[in-house]
Amino acid sequence: MTDRDGKTEQLRERRAQALEPAGAGANEKQHARGKRTARERIAALVDPGSFVEFDMFAIHRSSAFGLDEREFLGDGVVTGRAAIGGRQVFLFSQDFTVLGGSLGEVFAEKICKVMDLAVRTGSPIVGINDSGGARIQEGVVSLGGYAEIFWRNVQASGVIPQISLIAGPCAGGAVYSPAITDFTIMVENISQMFITGPEIIKAVTGEDVTFEQLGGALTHATKSGVTDLVAADEAEMNLQTRRLLSFIPQNNLEDPPRYACDDDPQRLAPELDDLIPDAPNKPYDIKDAIVAVLDDGDFFELAELYAQNIVIGFGRIGGSTVGIVANQPKVLAGVLDIASSIKAARFVRFCDAFNIPLLTFVDVPGFLPGTAQEYGGIIKHGAKLLYAFAEASVPKITVITRKAYGGAYDVMASKHIRADYNVAWPSAEIAVMGAAGAVKTIFRREIAESTDPEAKTAELVADYERRFANPFIAAERGYVDDVIEASQTRQVVARALDMLADKRVERPKRKHGNIPL
Ligand code: HXC
Repeated sequence: MTDRDGKTEQLRERRAQALEPAGAGANEKQHARGKRTARERIAALVDPGSFVEFDMFAIHRSSAFGLDEREFLGDGVVTGRAAIGGRQVFLFSQDFTVLGGSLGEVFAEKICKVMDLAVRTGSPIVGINDSGGARIQEGVVSLGGYAEIFWRNVQASGVIPQISLIAGPCAGGAVYSPAITDFTIMVENISQMFITGPEIIKAVTGEDVTFEQLGGALTHATKSGVTDLVAADEAEMNLQTRRLLSFIPQNNLEDPPRYACDDDPQRLAPELDDLIPDAPNKPYDIKDAIVAVLDDGDFFELAELYAQNIVIGFGRIGGSTVGIVANQPKVLAGVLDIASSIKAARFVRFCDAFNIPLLTFVDVPGFLPGTAQEYGGIIKHGAKLLYAFAEASVPKITVITRKAYGGAYDVMASKHIRADYNVAWPSAEIAVMGAAGAVKTIFRREIAESTDPEAKTAELVADYERRFANPFIAAERGYVDDVIEASQTRQVVARALDMLADKRVERPKRKHGNIPL
């Protein structure tokens, strides 16, 4: 067929124009900033040839501040569907070459369209953010556009997984879409997230801070906990995204994908029998227990650099995803504090929303004492983790490796808040508090009146340890279902997961609970 009136040719030209909407050389400018273009980012992330773009020819409707004389095909954001690991995802990728990736009315409409399709088809949404924020020329219309996105983020929460990749600036109210999504990944040296920038901070508080110090990837990975993962570059960000998606289901009505697994679920892990040091205050690395139990020792840790006294992440047992929550005795003796409670609570809620069984390792001496914690609201923040574990209706399996003291014992997926299968290692100490503290409290007078207080204390501590610092009092009452050899943990957990595969919980009818936010 001939293209007699040149219509097909016009389409091709328009498409070519849309591929570099800000004009020749704009893509090179983006490269010079050390960043990939919006389309290159999608191409590098998704399965080859799977991307189908929408609204390539959309243009803004604004005439303010000279915008009527500037047309950008696609309006600064590339949207569409693709496959990652053979599974459908919807995506948007902000194009910094067009007005700094700033968000206007049409830009927002395009994002909303793919978000709606993601929800309608039960597919994850991945957003690649690289933007100067609200498009200043479009004024309040762009604020409305943002809010439309935020509203959709909230409606989609717990229905489809939402992942935010930050690959450039993300400032002002724009940060609230990533903040609501389930996972955020930032790239070192090119990503920045902040509510107000260095100039405003200088004017208001007098502080001097650079963009990177204020809102760079490492800042959010270590200080604020805003980002779940940090990538050295965009290629690593894509690998992390693909790996993350491999652990999670398409939506809340599906189970996570199951993979063939050569690692025998009945495998013993003899190295665990020697993991716990003889001295109760000597640290060890709980990640040694985690990797010994998971298929092929493969643990995908999240928020690795934040609140390191608790460890969270995904792995598989028998080819199926589990979400791991574990106190880390190596950091702050594994104590629960504000940051670790919040970190773990949000993860528990994600797993619960998306049908991912929870495997909890407990070695916790209690909550962190101090005015900083009390004034900071450890009461309400610790309650978040308690609430999240209690609320979760996915299979919950708990392994107490050593200390399970006080309120923290209750919080860490104890039987009483409806964990389904709880076991303890022989080294477990399940008690109201450690021996030294307990003896000082209940035998204060006896110690004071003793002729040799030190020897008396030692004797009382030894007696307390013999009577209480073990798993058997809890086992007598059924608070733990079994005391197991540490080396058996993988097989015990695998069997419990099988047993609980069809777990169903009826929840009381209510609009929603009131988690202590
Ligand atoms: C329109 C914008 C823009 C914006 C950048 N540009 N931000 N255009 N609206 N918000 C344009 C620039 O004019 C420039 O156009 C091009 O994008 C590239 O910007 P540069 O400044 O040259 O790039 P760079 O030096 O890399 O700096 C990037 C930046 C900076 C840090 C993002 O541009 C910046 O500070 N922009 C303003 C950020 C901001 O204040 N946004 C509003 C925040 S309030 P030309 O034509 O020269 O190439 C907000 C509220 C959201 O977002 C509320 C949601 C509820």
